[in-house]
Amino acid sequence: MDIRIFKNEAEIGQAVGKLFCDFVNEKPDCVLGLATGATPVPTYNFIADQYAAGKVSFKDVSTFNLDEYCDLPKEHKNSYYSFMFENLFSKLDINADNVNFLDGNTTDPEAESARYAEAIAAKGGIDIQLLGIGRNGHIAFNEPADEFTGESFKIALTQSTIDANSIYFDDIPMPRYAMTMGIGSIMKARKIVLIATGASKAEAVKGMIKGEVTPQLPASILQQHQDAVIFLDEAAASLL
Ligand code: PGA
Repeated sequence: MDIRIFKNEAEIGQAVGKLFCDFVNEKPDCVLGLATGATPVPTYNFIADQYAAGKVSFKDVSTFNLDEYCDLPKEHKNSYYSFMFENLFSKLDINADNVNFLDGNTTDPEAESARYAEAIAAKGGIDIQLLGIGRNGHIAFNEPADEFTGESFKIALTQSTIDANSIYFDDIPMPRYAMTMGIGSIMKARKIVLIATGASKAEAVKGMIKGEVTPQLPASILQQHQDAVIFLDEAAASLL
């Protein structure tokens, strides 16, 4: 793991945003794996600013998002589909046909998982996968479990995740299930960039980097990825 520590989330947004823009300029038809949540927002803001300044184009880029809530209309303001358009895609020249999400409203999670894996493979695989980390060490919605997961699947969210994300649901109860890429699909990405900011992530970050590799702390699997870069602010790195 390549660990990089920055002063604050603004500096990380700039560093990770630059990494993505440089890569898109190098490989304009690249495939990016994207994440939602509060963590990537400074990165997305930096990328949108670079696009507005004419320094990068996303017109041939394809994206695959990590996860989506179940039992929530795609157009609802809290869907990850809406999040991505609001925070990034609407500010870029990306082609909407090249933007991919798991269908949280599928009635056949296994078929949906196969469809997503095939769509990723048809594009040649994910070049760079962006990740956040949950307070319990989850990546995407891979919650602590007895075994590492494989391809995408439907998961019941844990109380820790519900507590962390229910603040965003002011009109309806937060969904209890999600469709998520599995650990196996995430590990296939050629490069992984994980961002963790804030003291609430310090314990999970310590386990991810210094602890044993265990499905009880899913992010610890990244110790076994050949090109995982971890961007931390000082608060998230405080227990290392
Ligand atoms: P956050 O979520 O960026 O909103 O903290 C990260 C995660 O749960 O993976």
